[in-house]
Amino acid sequence: MLAYTYIERGKFQLIEKPQPQIIEPSDAIVRITLSSICTSDLHIKHGSVPRAVPGITVGHEMVGVVEAVGKEVTKVKVGDRVTVNVETFCGECFYCKNGYVNNCTSPNGGWALGCRIDGGQTEYVRVPLANQGLDRIPESVTDEQALFVGDVLATGFWAARISEITEDDTVLIIGAGPTGICTLLCVMLKTPKRIIVCEKSEQRRAFIRQHYPDVLVITPTDCEAFVMAHSDHGGADRVLEVAGGTDTFQLAWQCARPNAIVTIVALYDQPQTLPLPEMYGKNLTFKSGGVDGCDCEEILQLIEAGKIDTTPLITHQYPLDRIEEAYRLFEDKEDGVIKVAITNNSQNCPKELV
Ligand SMILES: NC(=O)c1ccc[n+]([C@@H]2O[C@H](COP(=O)([O-])OP(=O)(O)OC[C@H]3O[C@@H](n4cnc5c(N)ncnc54)[C@H](O)[C@@H]3O)[C@@H](O)[C@H]2O)c1
Ligand SMILES: [Zn+2]
Ligand SMILES: [Zn+2]
Repeated sequence: MLAYTYIERGKFQLIEKPQPQIIEPSDAIVRITLSSICTSDLHIKHGSVPRAVPGITVGHEMVGVVEAVGKEVTKVKVGDRVTVNVETFCGECFYCKNGYVNNCTSPNGGWALGCRIDGGQTEYVRVPLANQGLDRIPESVTDEQALFVGDVLATGFWAARISEITEDDTVLIIGAGPTGICTLLCVMLKTPKRIIVCEKSEQRRAFIRQHYPDVLVITPTDCEAFVMAHSDHGGADRVLEVAGGTDTFQLAWQCARPNAIVTIVALYDQPQTLPLPEMYGKNLTFKSGGVDGCDCEEILQLIEAGKIDTTPLITHQYPLDRIEEAYRLFEDKEDGVIKVAITNNSQNCPKELV
């Protein structure tokens, strides 16, 4: 099968690999129908994910059909359409029991797929700990609707959850990339009084205005003054930083009112400074981290109920054998791209797997 592979720093390549097999009784094999490219894949390509193992198939956003299951897998069965969770977790350790699945202590715990073990920009993937890592897609939900459930949408859902948003709040979201938009969709579920999105790119500001007309949209330059003028207590009650730019950490806390919650979703290339003397008296609460992606079942139910729709984010589609072009477009942010869906050309290949 074709597998888009991390060869070395700066180089991904589409190469032939054998189809994966069940290794552990808790594994499942999934035939991938749709996958996507994430900003974190680009971080691997550029060598800024030291844990990433050369030779692995990249990709950690995917949906597909269960092709085979090990004997301990009870949650899904062969033929089920499923979303694959970006995180592998055991469900039993201290961290899993507390919902902190990103820090699961099992050997494959956390972000393993498409980073430390073979991922999903290919035709078949082996999913370890499949009772936790797979969720059945409801009948009425399409693959396109479910594509982001395991990664960027799980991130937006987690970010909105930990931000403790109330209906009286003015919420500022910095960054309207795919993760920022997913965060926006999940913040909208909390029905805060006002949502302000700050985004640098004119094209992405236009995307937000077009699809979410009730949201206030602002440039970074005018952001602080705008937030002060459009909030009730001298700043945003909740700030969600989803841009990861050079100045966006600073912008986030500067736009927050005293006693606000500032949630850092972004992953920075450089260390950030926390200028405590300047912040003194603002009494801010900071939250941060890698997504605890354990709400996929609830997210799928929300999609089924029509409360979340991420399909407008799929601006482009490419078949797997043209994934190089898709990466170029996504990386260069050409043609108004938000997300690319990678389709599989092997839909009719024989099912001779395990
Ligand atoms: N915590 C997690 O588990 C998790 C999960 C997924 C993504 N992320 C991180 O979230 C961030 C966003 O991811 P993405 O996929 O949406 O990436 P992206 O690069 O497409 O989006 C970032 C957006 O921020 C905008 N931006 C940059 N500088 C800005 C500024 N000064 N003011 C306003 N907007 C600005 C960019 O124009 C872009 O639209 C990344 O840092 C990514 O690594 C974290
Ligand atoms: Zn990702
Ligand atoms: Zn665990």
